[in-house]
Amino acid sequence: MPFDQYHEPPSELPEKTRTFARMVTSLIEEAEAIGWYEQRIAVEKDGQARAIMENAQKEEFKHFGMDLEFLLRAKPDWREELQEILFTEGDIVERGEKAEDKVG
Ligand SMILES: [Fe+2]
Repeated sequence: MPFDQYHEPPSELPEKTRTFARMVTSLIEEAEAIGWYEQRIAVEKDGQARAIMENAQKEEFKHFGMDLEFLLRAKPDWREELQEILFTEGDIVERGEKAEDKVG
């Protein structure tokens, strides 16, 4: 279970690729945590408990962002594509198509 991030024999993977795979797994886990907190917050009746969970969810936003930035620094094509999509206005699908056209 702890080695699920590898789809190839880890011993055959370069260290850089193993780090990349670990960070992808970490990104997934942070996204899952954000989703889990979202659900807990939605059903929690106690205001103090909800505030603590909201605070914790914000920590997960930060962790997700740091993981993503690490990965984008490792993959310039990924960064270039996301620059057309993230922090923009308008139709997201159109932005995605534009990004695909640009990066190829
Ligand atoms: Fe986290």
